[in-house]
Amino acid sequence: MKFYIALGLLSVFARVNGQALDRDDADDIVEELREGGLIPSVIPASFVPTTHLNVTYVGRLMDFGTEYFPYRNETDSVPEISYVAEPNSYYTVALVDPDAPSRADPYRAQVRHWLSVNIPMTDITRGNSTATPYLRPAPFAGCGRKRFVYVLAKQPGELPELTVPQARPNFDFAKFAADNNMTIVGANYFEVESLPGATCAPN
Ligand SMILES: *[C@@H]1O[C@H](CO)[C@@H](O)[C@H](O)[C@H]1NC(C)=O
Ligand SMILES: *[C@@H]1O[C@H](CO)[C@@H](O)[C@H](O)[C@H]1NC(C)=O
Ligand SMILES: *[C@@H]1O[C@H](CO)[C@@H](O)[C@H](O)[C@H]1NC(C)=O
Ligand SMILES: *[C@@H]1O[C@H](CO)[C@@H](O)[C@H](O)[C@H]1NC(C)=O
Repeated sequence: MKFYIALGLLSVFARVNGQALDRDDADDIVEELREGGLIPSVIPASFVPTTHLNVTYVGRLMDFGTEYFPYRNETDSVPEISYVAEPNSYYTVALVDPDAPSRADPYRAQVRHWLSVNIPMTDITRGNSTATPYLRPAPFAGCGRKRFVYVLAKQPGELPELTVPQARPNFDFAKFAADNNMTIVGANYFEVESLPGATCAPN
């Protein structure tokens, strides 16, 4: 009996602190990312989600593999992003392309399409895009179906001295997070189909 009361209190405490995610929801997120081939390649196997990372382009909520159409301008600008934050904490949001230029031959991966650091809780507009603003996905013709991954990491605090490489290709978000003592707490991804083409030839 005591045990259950204690568990109940713990769960109330977690909700107050914005960490609450049902065990089932957390398991589902991990399962979706595994099925999408993104754990452990982009997100480490040790990942424990503590929040939904809800991303909405053109009114459509992203749900692990949702297709959007860059050629119809659906991903031209920063989407609406929502998640549950802990009080007095800072977050980093990234959009990376692990299939650059193609899933078959991702030699430029990850391409960093966006990295916004020092976001106070959920106030994305106050994040610092570190001189590399949102770059809309624009897959080269002939490169097939591609994934784009949103990742949310909780920072150990505000990181005013954070340095970010200027080059967008060959980025490794998990390493960046680990190097800066960040904890990945949320993720989601979408897919796009590149236009037909005989070869996948980045320019
Ligand atoms: C996408 O936006 C560009 C301008 O940014 C416009 O020229 C083009 O017509 C748009 N395409 C569609 C399908 O809306
Ligand atoms: C994310 O979306 C799900 C499904 O619509 C919803 O249950 C959840 O409350 C949302 N969470 C946030 C933080 O927006
Ligand atoms: C934003 O990040 C850049 C480094 O990428 C840094 O020079 C600048 O001071 C930061 N600005 C703020 C307000 O944190
Ligand atoms: C990360 O944490 C370690 C040990 O806790 C510390 O020595 C190091 O300075 C921290 N690095 C950053 C970038 O905060």
